[in-house]
Amino acid sequence: MIYPVIRLNIPLNEREMNNFPSVLEAISDLNIDQIEGLLILARKFKERPSDSTIFTNHRPIVANSFLENSTRTKTSFAIATTKLGCRYIDFNAETSSLKKGETLHETLRTLSCQGIDLCIIRSAESFILSKFKKSPPMKLINGGDGTNQHPTQALLDLFTLLEVEPNLKGKKIAIIGDCIHSRVGNSLCELLPMFGCKVILMGPKEFLPSFPPNQHVTLSTDLDKEMGSIDFLYTLRIQNERHTNSGSMLIDNYSKDFGITLKRMNKHGLNIPIFHPGPVNIGIEIDQEIINSPYYMGYEQVKNSIFMRMAIITTMLQNNDKSVGSFNENRLQSKL
Ligand code: NCD
Repeated sequence: MIYPVIRLNIPLNEREMNNFPSVLEAISDLNIDQIEGLLILARKFKERPSDSTIFTNHRPIVANSFLENSTRTKTSFAIATTKLGCRYIDFNAETSSLKKGETLHETLRTLSCQGIDLCIIRSAESFILSKFKKSPPMKLINGGDGTNQHPTQALLDLFTLLEVEPNLKGKKIAIIGDCIHSRVGNSLCELLPMFGCKVILMGPKEFLPSFPPNQHVTLSTDLDKEMGSIDFLYTLRIQNERHTNSGSMLIDNYSKDFGITLKRMNKHGLNIPIFHPGPVNIGIEIDQEIINSPYYMGYEQVKNSIFMRMAIITTMLQNNDKSVGSFNENRLQSKL
């Protein structure tokens, strides 16, 4: 079902928002107008929480299907869904027929026939949503797929960054840590340069890609050398679950070279915001003193996640894509 566009009386590029993808897998699925539209909408939700219940007559059904652990992403999608007035289903993948060997494809077709309009999927498998783009069983949002992408995290991070610094042009952000295993890092490397922000990926060489992913990104293994020229720090969690043994050996030296501590900040005379998508390995990527300090933006990111995800869910439910769920109609027509 396509839900009516609620006019929020804001300067959205409606044509672009109507063309919003039905499967949001990666930042590259979005154009700059659509991203700016999401930022406007998220701000609107943040400033006017009483206007948030968009879906009153027809209440779409949104499901979370998390095949990997999550606290922040799963809960914030659930809260965003209910704040908008949608109905929410917590699809428990662990106790579902996926565990009997049913494919995700068949599972999603089944949920679509039951009336689910939108499903947020998290999986340890990269590119798991790609195969649904041609004929989506329902609207789909990537809640993090393996080491590939986590587009909604990057979008809420952008929203939070813009609250700190409205003009990112020429600013430099250091993304520090386990860059090759981080889907958040990958999404940020695509998104932030669209707003003129330069990205420097930092970490031990084992945690860095061999080549920068695009021309707006550089690589460095020397945090202390670069720190003086950086405007924002974005620390990544060490992805222990994606490491072989040799990866975990690196962690012993990690905090000495890359851990963000108040001592390190003071040594460089730095007074800049520090982001982390969470969960933090406290004492490794950043220490408790930083988390308790005003530099730490992690809780702001968590708060803003609700508004950005409300914006994404609303826009997606209102797009004009007639191909969604058409697998079933096509099947019935071919029988007649
Ligand atoms: C991130 C994830 O799951 O990719 N966390 C999150 O969604 N807030 C980052 C991480 O787990 O390291």
